[in-house]
Amino acid sequence: MNILTFPTDAELNEAGAGIITGLVQTKPNAVLGLATGSTPIGIYREIIRTFRKGMVSYKQVTTFNLDEYVGLEPSHPQSYANYMREHLFDHIDASPDRLHIPNGAAADPAAECARYDALLDGCGQIDLQLLGLGHNGHIGFNEPDHSLVRGTHVVALREQTREANARFFDSIDGVPTHAITMGVGTILKAKTILLVVKGADKAEIVHRALTGEITTEIPASLLQTHPHLVVLLDAEAGRLFR
Ligand code: GLP
Repeated sequence: MNILTFPTDAELNEAGAGIITGLVQTKPNAVLGLATGSTPIGIYREIIRTFRKGMVSYKQVTTFNLDEYVGLEPSHPQSYANYMREHLFDHIDASPDRLHIPNGAAADPAAECARYDALLDGCGQIDLQLLGLGHNGHIGFNEPDHSLVRGTHVVALREQTREANARFFDSIDGVPTHAITMGVGTILKAKTILLVVKGADKAEIVHRALTGEITTEIPASLLQTHPHLVVLLDAEAGRLFR
């Protein structure tokens, strides 16, 4: 596990984007696992900046997003499909047919999960999985539980998660109750995992997840078992590691 703490947001974003663009420069057909939430926005911004400088092309890259809300059409402003277009996909030269996000509006969510897993299997292995961290230790939308699911599945969101994400909606009533998420087994199969955590409100949970007991009650704690885990922290989130 390689834990790096950065004094400024700009330096963290540059480092995160550097790891991703470096991979794509050396492996143009890389398979990337992508994340949403407020945490990776700065990294995506930096990726766009280096793309505009002509330093890297994403034409052959395949991407798989971690998760999507059940019940939101891809065109919904708060869907993760819309988030990805807005914060990354519309600004780089990626090939739309290679960009995968679970379809939250699928009539049969269980069938959608199976379709997504088949796509993932067809791509072999994710080269790099980008991850944020939920306040309760969730990764993707894998919520704390007495057991975790290996593959893509439908999950009921915890109240705490809905409250945390309500800031993106008009009110908490608008936050979907369920999501489709890649499973922890799929996440752990990635060759490299890049966990990014920002903010004082996550200092305790990231410290517990990476130094405490490995338990399904803190899904991110399973990342301790991964052989190639890189963790980028801002000064506030990294407070307890000093
Ligand atoms: C959501 C996403 C996660 C993300 C988490 C933290 O629940 N499904 O993938 O890591 O939010 O989001 P933020 O970065 O906004 O704190």
